[in-house]
Amino acid sequence: MKKYTFVVFAGALVCLLLAVSCNDQGKQLATPGAENQVERGHYLVTTMGCNDCHSPKIFTDHGPEPDSNLLLSGHPSSIPVAAFDTATAKNWVLFHPMNTVAIGPWGTSFAANLTPDSTGLGGWTEAQFSLALRHGKSKGLASGRMLLPPMPWTNYAQLSDEDLHAIFSYLQSLKPVHNVVPQPIPPGPIAAK
Ligand code: HEC
Repeated sequence: MKKYTFVVFAGALVCLLLAVSCNDQGKQLATPGAENQVERGHYLVTTMGCNDCHSPKIFTDHGPEPDSNLLLSGHPSSIPVAAFDTATAKNWVLFHPMNTVAIGPWGTSFAANLTPDSTGLGGWTEAQFSLALRHGKSKGLASGRMLLPPMPWTNYAQLSDEDLHAIFSYLQSLKPVHNVVPQPIPPGPIAAK
């Protein structure tokens, strides 16, 4: 009788352990950890070209590369926009050599600071980030102006909730960089040479 009780007890223990470990695995598959989100976000931001416009560059033998100290911190406030020939520029779109400023029929736009500093996306909620990327709203506010070119938000509007969450998680994990990006300038007023 004693032997029988022991077998039943041991069997119950094995079932319990199996159930716990199976459950754990299930959980891991359903909700990947925060670390995985950041990794996935890093991958998406890199392959979707956010650095092209939002990171200041260093110039290497094989061309411009994102400055790892200022990653995704937007157009540096210390670099003024040089005067340009408005007559020629009228029929063209101009880019700053670092790609962080663009001049076109909409005026002059400056790539935003996406780091979690108070001058960037620090304090933003994911809902704000979604309004900016999916509806093109500046500062992620429903009352905000529309984002200007060349921010390709209409492409990013197609992102799944999961990918948007991963990108936001990665951006919030960046080193905060204090940089007040200039406001856009309407067409016209920049001095011609
Ligand atoms: C081709 C250039 C370009 C690319 C690529 C680009 N952006 Fe932008 N982005 C801009 C510019 C310029 C602005 C500022 C537009 C304005 O002032 O209206 C901007 C604005 C934003 C804003 C709004 C910030 C605010 O304060 O309102 C967010 C958020 C943003 N970009 C995120 C991203 C993310 C994330 C990616 C990559 C998935 C990305 N951008 C790729 C050029 C770009």
